Amino acid sequence: MKRLLLSLAILLISAMAFAGEGMWIPMLLQHNEKEMQEMGMRITAEDIYSINHSSLKDAIVLFGGGCTGEIVSDYGLLLTNHHCGYDYIQQHSSVEHDYLTDGFWAMDRSQELPCPGLTVIFLREMRDVTDKVTFNVNDDIEETERQRLIDENIKKLVADVEKTTDYKVFVKPYFLGNEYYLLLNEEYTDVRLVGCPPSNIGKFGGDTDNWVWPRHTGDFSVFRVYANKDGHPADYNPDNVPYKPAKHLEISLKGAEEGDFAFVFGYPARTSEYLPAVAVDQEANVIDPIAVKLRGEILDIYNTYQEQDKKVRIQYASKHAGLGNGWKKWMGVTEGINHFHGVEKKRFYEESFRQWCLESRGRIPYLHLLTDFEQKYKELEPYRVAYTYLTNAGLNIEIMSFAGYFNRLSQVTKETPQEEIDQMIVSLKKATAEFFKDYYQPIDEEVARTMLEEYLNHQPADFRPGFLNEIQDVNAYVDQLFNKSMFVNEEKVNKFLDNFKPSKAKKLQKDPALIAYQSMINFYREDINPPMSAINNDLSRMQRLYMKGQMLMEPEKRFSPDANFTLRVTYGKVQGFKPQDGKNYRHFTTLEGIMEKENPDIYDYVVEPKLKQLYNTKDYGRYADKDGTMHVAFTASVHTTGGNSGSPILNADGQLLGLNFDRCWEGTMSDLVYDPDICRNISVDIRYVLFIIDKFAGAKNLIAEMDIVE
Ligand code: ARG
Ligand code: GLU
Repeated sequence: MKRLLLSLAILLISAMAFAGEGMWIPMLLQHNEKEMQEMGMRITAEDIYSINHSSLKDAIVLFGGGCTGEIVSDYGLLLTNHHCGYDYIQQHSSVEHDYLTDGFWAMDRSQELPCPGLTVIFLREMRDVTDKVTFNVNDDIEETERQRLIDENIKKLVADVEKTTDYKVFVKPYFLGNEYYLLLNEEYTDVRLVGCPPSNIGKFGGDTDNWVWPRHTGDFSVFRVYANKDGHPADYNPDNVPYKPAKHLEISLKGAEEGDFAFVFGYPARTSEYLPAVAVDQEANVIDPIAVKLRGEILDIYNTYQEQDKKVRIQYASKHAGLGNGWKKWMGVTEGINHFHGVEKKRFYEESFRQWCLESRGRIPYLHLLTDFEQKYKELEPYRVAYTYLTNAGLNIEIMSFAGYFNRLSQVTKETPQEEIDQMIVSLKKATAEFFKDYYQPIDEEVARTMLEEYLNHQPADFRPGFLNEIQDVNAYVDQLFNKSMFVNEEKVNKFLDNFKPSKAKKLQKDPALIAYQSMINFYREDINPPMSAINNDLSRMQRLYMKGQMLMEPEKRFSPDANFTLRVTYGKVQGFKPQDGKNYRHFTTLEGIMEKENPDIYDYVVEPKLKQLYNTKDYGRYADKDGTMHVAFTASVHTTGGNSGSPILNADGQLLGLNFDRCWEGTMSDLVYDPDICRNISVDIRYVLFIIDKFAGAKNLIAEMDIVE
């Protein structure tokens, strides 16, 4: 029976692992090549990643530290998502020049807008350095000491390699610390906004449709990478020239059929596919629901005020999108894990792992892991809950987190060098301008009342920051907070900064918003972080061992390491899905669907008049599908996660089919448990992107520089 159970479990897990699961390391892709080619791929692993000649990897960048972008012309033209370019579009927007609402198009290079702070990073090379990083450690060494040795080895290795290259050198752990790879990166810092559609296109469906299929979002924006005259990275300078890449992507106008091979090449941020059941259960059924509830309440408040006032709508657009994104995703995770029995599947697998351990004496170190996990995660839970309240309820009170910027200034004494003070003042003046540009006090007051109430009602006194324990009456506290604090008044803050002397630091120390902030930070530093780090320290050792055990149990299986914000290839098929009995999703949507959703009274569903006109005259040009319609978005069974936004989805020939921008809500549990029957990524069809650039915006200058294959 036990044997049967074991083979059944392995069969089940292996079946799950096939078709779609896995985020593969590009330099090791030759191991997947056969499978990829069997699925339809017509290029080689070497065409995707090579250090000997140009390959697709030379066209892929980490965009803005959080998304992926790809180069589509010989002049550094870059595509990413609208929501990835959002902050930079917003930076250039005001009520007079509302690029978020109206879109923006540079009709020649002189009109492109510099974006200070925006960077793109190219991976130039990676190397397996596991042996060099772990040569003097083993699992018997105490964990902190082990980590110290590893850090020391990494530091030395990085210093050695840095002597031989101009690239930035990083070493990152893979397989939960069982392997290490070195990455050589090149970072470009002059990146300019070239174009973006109006939000009615780039964010069509808004937060209502976010994470949901069927989807009709034209989620793209266009940038350009600039370099100095020698092609090297340089900060913004009007004399810089468009960057000439070793490779840019070709664009296919052929579209994709159900069942076609497709792959995504980009920067997935974080997945946790190898967690024990108890951790998955905690995530889906304890932590996520708390964050969902708190954020949901804040979003309700934002909505009420945003609907009343156009200015407030712009001010809170980015904040709303940020909070709303996690809120909705986590709801999907809980639903998905429970509906598709994620915890039970893990338990079933763990049973087979336990049986495997019992088969041999040498496996004893692995045997106790599962029981120890139960214990450790139970210990961790109250701290994780406390942290969830702190970040979602406490730090979302804007006046308090803004006051936090002044924490260092409040510690200034007569001994502090004047130069240091001057620097602080300059950066605080900048932060002040940025904060007040997007601040609306009535929202913040209501958020403060609601969140403090939640905090007090749901966290015991020893699991919340001290200032909360002195509050008798939330309303009275909030009234005096906003009456007494200077952080609600831009003029007062600037005046204070202009006349700052060390003797005035005391005034800051008495400000109730800063007092609250300090109380939260101290609570984190003293009460939450130390026990949490100690437990996490134990857990990371256990997870590393568990990962190693899983790999030993199935030596034939190809394992893929969890995402860690490094470049990965994931592949599958263009495919619809059946989320529920009786429901069958087709793999693509069309412009007809935009017209069906149209509703002039609902902000998310307003259709641009010009788009309507193009629809009415069916003026799609060469961008129409062979069925005559304009395809907007499509789904595929490719394993993706946050960070993959903006990633190219490519066809069997390595040509661009679209830009990945989301996943279907039913499958967002794929960060914890991947299920190829349900998990789908969503991409905007490249033909819709080109149609908008060409027919809608008339930016033929951009079309002309791309490499379009009919
Ligand atoms: N859900 C996508 C992601 O995780 C898109 C988010 C931006 N779009 C939005 N409507 N908030 O990033
Ligand atoms: N929109 C996500 C991002 O910003 C991608 C969606 C996902 O999490 O799969 O990266």
